[in-house]
Amino acid sequence: MKTRQSTQSLFSVPQQHLFRKDILAWYDRHQRDLPWRANRDPYRIWLSEIMLQQTRVAAVIEHYHEFLRRFPTIEDLAAAREASVLAAWSGLGYYRRARMLHSAAKVIVREHGGKFPMTEKQLQALPGIGRYTAAAIASIAFDEPVAVVDGNVERVLQRLAGRRLASVELWSAANHLLDKKRPGDFNQAMMELGAVQCNPRAPACLTCPVVELCSTRGELAVEAKAARQKQCEIHYALDVRDGEVWLVQRARDASLMAGMWELPEVASMNGVSRPVFTLRHSITVTDYTVRVWQNAVRSRTAGKWIPRGRLERVALTGLARKILRKAEVL
Ligand code: ADE
Repeated sequence: MKTRQSTQSLFSVPQQHLFRKDILAWYDRHQRDLPWRANRDPYRIWLSEIMLQQTRVAAVIEHYHEFLRRFPTIEDLAAAREASVLAAWSGLGYYRRARMLHSAAKVIVREHGGKFPMTEKQLQALPGIGRYTAAAIASIAFDEPVAVVDGNVERVLQRLAGRRLASVELWSAANHLLDKKRPGDFNQAMMELGAVQCNPRAPACLTCPVVELCSTRGELAVEAKAARQKQCEIHYALDVRDGEVWLVQRARDASLMAGMWELPEVASMNGVSRPVFTLRHSITVTDYTVRVWQNAVRSRTAGKWIPRGRLERVALTGLARKILRKAEVL
């Protein structure tokens, strides 16, 4: 057996075998019971991978079942109106993902007869599917031996190596380590290890299945903390009458959340009156203090009275949904 360490590989060949055996045994015993692991339907796996980009597992689970209830098959998604897709995505943020998902569903139905492309290369040709997502779907749904690198895998690999690795080194190391017989499980095991054991600030090295193969054992300095969040105050008018609520639509060409519905923004009435309530909301690098006012002077921006019963079907921004829930309008 060859034991020489290749330049792209973190480990010798026997170490690679040991690593695969140990991480897969750990995954078989300890994997989280997540809804997208219930079967290997590529549509469901694809949806989970898109939702999981930039969104926490707990928040994804909340939306995943409801999205699939509304669009059980790729044909249902392809046939839906964009506004319905955005409404089902409401609260997950990064709405471009939902638009791309919808576009890709149409391409798959129109150009592939509704049958999911099965290889990493073909998958990458679809809207919104980059190298990571293509490899995740190809390996998990179709057993193609291609490795994934996401933020969690990157941290695991850097700690195993004991140094920072450039992007090409990361993909190369991941592909060398990959278990070619169980690529989908191996990829999920690497992501899972990063999420639950090898976490950024407090890695649980004592119970790590591959600690013996790790050069760092938790000591690799974590990156400097991200720049402090910006603080901002923002004010909205809440107008409810006869079972309807007044909402405005964001511009079709807005750079964020284009075309989605929200409460009208108003000037501060601090010192003049008291807000109905205040809540906190974070979007990317900004923490908002959100004050909600009744009887505020709205500007003349076009809006609509929306019946409360229809709100579930309207593409609301995440913040609008949060306010309407807190106000018990939704
Ligand atoms: N992160 C993104 N996709 C994942 C998966 N399938 N398992 C674990 N973590 C993930």
